[in-house]
Amino acid sequence: MVASSLQAIVLAAGKSSRFKTHQSKLLFPLCGQEMILYPIKNLKKLSIPTTLIVGHQQDAIRSCITNNIIPDDSFSLSFVEQTEQRGTGHALLCTRSLWNADTILIMNGDMPLVSAALIEKLIEHHNAAHLKMNAAITFVTAHNTDPSQTGYGRVIKTDNGIEIVEARNFIGDPHAACCINAGIYVINRKFLEQFITHLTPNEVTQELYLTDLIKIAQSHKVSVETYDVSFDTIRGINTLKELWTAEHIKRSELISYWMEQGVHFAAAQNTIVDADVTMGANSFIGAGVHILKGTRIGNNCSIQAFSYLSNSTLHDNVVVAPYSTISDSVIHEQAHIGPYAHVHNKSTIHTRAVIGNFVEVNRSSVGEQSKAKHLSYLGDAQLGKQVNVGAGTITANYNGVAKEKTIIHDNAHIGSNNVLVAPVTIGAHSITAAGSVITDSVPANALAIARARQSVKEGYAPQLRERYMQQKEKLFIGARKETPSPEQDSDTSEFHEKS
Ligand code: UD1
Ligand code: CA
Repeated sequence: MVASSLQAIVLAAGKSSRFKTHQSKLLFPLCGQEMILYPIKNLKKLSIPTTLIVGHQQDAIRSCITNNIIPDDSFSLSFVEQTEQRGTGHALLCTRSLWNADTILIMNGDMPLVSAALIEKLIEHHNAAHLKMNAAITFVTAHNTDPSQTGYGRVIKTDNGIEIVEARNFIGDPHAACCINAGIYVINRKFLEQFITHLTPNEVTQELYLTDLIKIAQSHKVSVETYDVSFDTIRGINTLKELWTAEHIKRSELISYWMEQGVHFAAAQNTIVDADVTMGANSFIGAGVHILKGTRIGNNCSIQAFSYLSNSTLHDNVVVAPYSTISDSVIHEQAHIGPYAHVHNKSTIHTRAVIGNFVEVNRSSVGEQSKAKHLSYLGDAQLGKQVNVGAGTITANYNGVAKEKTIIHDNAHIGSNNVLVAPVTIGAHSITAAGSVITDSVPANALAIARARQSVKEGYAPQLRERYMQQKEKLFIGARKETPSPEQDSDTSEFHEKS
């Protein structure tokens, strides 16, 4: 890409009124990535210096971009403010002082399905048309394959040339098959400088329409070229329904790509995969699985039904059994998680460790081959290698004021139903007895028993039962005296009959 003779302008100042949400549509995620980041990332990939025109909710849009686009030597990005939203032509006009390249690529900010390859081909097409017939404008068109989408500008070709008729101005059947304007234009700077001031406000909306440049070019005998592409690659997003449709298209593209890389999906149609995730070959993804932003899955993993992975790294050969949630965490090779496990908040599960059903791991590290297989809570805990945590054991990490740490060294065996009251350290190879409440640290190789000693009273059970029966009888006599008569309260009397 020849950066010096080409620059891009992305229109992102609009009000998003058809979205009917408080937040600008450009900040809504599509497959986990804000809509406005799609064009910017493509332009960065192609090293085209870019200006973003912002207005409505500009602070949020600017920070979304600066937080996500890392600047480098091959890509420059600037912002221009459009203080009043007076149409796409007016937005373009606001950037006038920054026009410096021979050719200017202009695109709407609300078309996240557009690929870098499409932009590249469009520019090649324009350069060829410019050489061949001195075309000053090339714009992208598509045959509208979705008759419910009536908001596009229609491209009408007649003997007099080509025209874009905006939906509001179109007279005729709005659902009839048509060719539409996609909203991406390549325009020679000299043409723009000469003719941008020829734009006049639309009679209905008083806005300046960028699309009127086509009519202006034709009336001055300047050549205009079109570049036809498939509708699904350029869909614009004006409503939440259109966002939903576009997300379906994007997601099926992503899943098809991962299938080609050797990932086996049990039910691709109900799997959620975000744009920036990666998955290794021979991995299996079960029905209803969510694989969200920032997640990396290694080779030969099995992510089973309805599991939810977000911003986490899973190394090779990891098994995640059904209904497990893993977020902001790392799972090493051959670890086994779930079913119904919750690993979160920067936790690390090391090689061949097992986190079983109804176990929560929070801000903790579980060492190699350690196991917490049933009903546990490990919070702010560091477990060494080959530790065994008995069923029902929890770390009491919070005293109401501060979070405290629990450290369990290698090969320790924690009995069932323990409460490890942090801060506490359990030494290597030690054992804690079932039912213990461990408040003091346990040295290596020790046995800690922290529970009341059991006493057995031979033959005492019948006496105890007799005492209970007498107590129950006394209670009923007392209750009858205090209870209102049946005439006063029929519900209460029914209760007494039953009991
Ligand atoms: C626009 C085109 C239409 C085309 C369609 C493709 C015009 C007049 N119409 O219509 O021919 O078929 O895109 O999707 O251009 N914006 C500003 N400032 C403004 C108004 C809009 O920056 O004052 C930005 C918006 O944020 C948006 C883009 O321009 O990113 C397009 O605006 P939008 O209102 O979505 O145009 P459409 O009605 O879709
Ligand atoms: Ca639009």
